[in-house]
Amino acid sequence: MKRVDDFRLRLGKQELVPIMVGGMGVDISTAELALEAARLGGIGHISDAMVPTVSDRRFNTKYVKNKLRQYKFNVANTEKAVVKFDLGLLAEATAMHVGRTMEAKRGEGMIFANCMEKLTMNDPRETLRVRLKAALDNGIDGVTLAAGLHLGSFGLIEEHPRFRDVKLGIIVSSLRALQLFLKKSARTNRLPDYVVIEGPLAGGHLGFGMDWAQYDLVSIVTEIREWMKAEKIDIPLIPAGGIFTGSDAVAFMEAGAAAVQVATRFTVSKECGLPEDVQQEYFKAGETDIVVNTISPTGYPMRMLKSSPAIGDGIRPNCEAYGYLLDAKGNCQYIEAYNREVALHPDAKKIKVWDKTCLCTQMRNFELWTCGHYTYRLKDTSRQDASGKYELLTAEHIFHDYQFSVDNKIALPTAPPA
Ligand SMILES: Cc1cc2nc3c(=O)[nH]c(=O)nc-3n(C[C@H](O)[C@H](O)[C@H](O)COP(=O)(O)O)c2cc1C
Repeated sequence: MKRVDDFRLRLGKQELVPIMVGGMGVDISTAELALEAARLGGIGHISDAMVPTVSDRRFNTKYVKNKLRQYKFNVANTEKAVVKFDLGLLAEATAMHVGRTMEAKRGEGMIFANCMEKLTMNDPRETLRVRLKAALDNGIDGVTLAAGLHLGSFGLIEEHPRFRDVKLGIIVSSLRALQLFLKKSARTNRLPDYVVIEGPLAGGHLGFGMDWAQYDLVSIVTEIREWMKAEKIDIPLIPAGGIFTGSDAVAFMEAGAAAVQVATRFTVSKECGLPEDVQQEYFKAGETDIVVNTISPTGYPMRMLKSSPAIGDGIRPNCEAYGYLLDAKGNCQYIEAYNREVALHPDAKKIKVWDKTCLCTQMRNFELWTCGHYTYRLKDTSRQDASGKYELLTAEHIFHDYQFSVDNKIALPTAPPA
């Protein structure tokens, strides 16, 4: 019976344990978590979502405070187009986040940045260019292009000296999305180094509509693999979404996958950025506590715990401080929803907004508890103490469980001496 450890992922000259810990914004997949995955010989992700905000928490910088001070005059204004990011400061924050992480890297694995195209930041092209360039300048091993089609992203960095040597991957949820990407980036004469195929059971935003339940990862991976074979394209395929045990991973690798991307099991690791009380909510969740809804202003469905405090919370949009989801015209679907409710309830002290959420603020404050479909199985991965609290796991424990387990077994943490 095979284990994940019987396989290796080859990326260029490097051989890796074929386990990639997926990006989880905003700072849920912390540098500490990514560093552990790399130390253990796999791949970890940091995220490029809201980096100035993350930098404030990590390095005690003051990007958010200063931006809010600069745009304070606009806080009560319903129009947000004036709120812009300073590209120099964005590059500086990214340089710090990526640079310090790469300096701390130990071991044979790699650290990639998960790059969200949907973070349009009131200037989609330039802010994305700055984020990608700063990540490459500061030694990131690879970039996974996520959330959005990224049709022009290769073009944004094709002049960079590291363009042909940095590992570049893309996340797709359909053959069509992959075909489109390859067609649009053909001009740069560079294929992605890997393709993550994310199915409908993943956490975060989904690359499906609300009919997500009609799709399944095995079928999508098979369709993509057969098409690539027919076209004689050889790119490592990395399935993601609902791969909960080492045996789940082995099944994909025996069918030709090069590695797997996993995330949900690491949400209850000590190195994960979620506060511990939120991690206990993840442990406790039952199957019916997990929902897919359309409250994200990105327009993509998102999976989350239905007890997330963000749901219904009608806070004033915080674009002057954050503003990461403002589109090229300075709009965000949450601003529209919020303004509508304020107009409907002019005398209310506090309003509720049910159809959209202020994603920046809620993710920043860990009030939107996004999670994978199998979060309800996390309780089977740990032990409870007498008070009912679950024990957090080390990333190493979870990583090794994926790497070495057989028979769909899940190793519990070792009990402390009696
Ligand atoms: C809490 C959480 C946050 C996530 N955030 C992101 C994100 O910011 N960007 C992204 O591309 N994927 C995100 N994902 C998706 C993961 O990177 C990964 O592909 C997927 O969840 C794997 O499936 P699994 O969680 O069932 O193992 C997130 C997943 C979780 C659980």
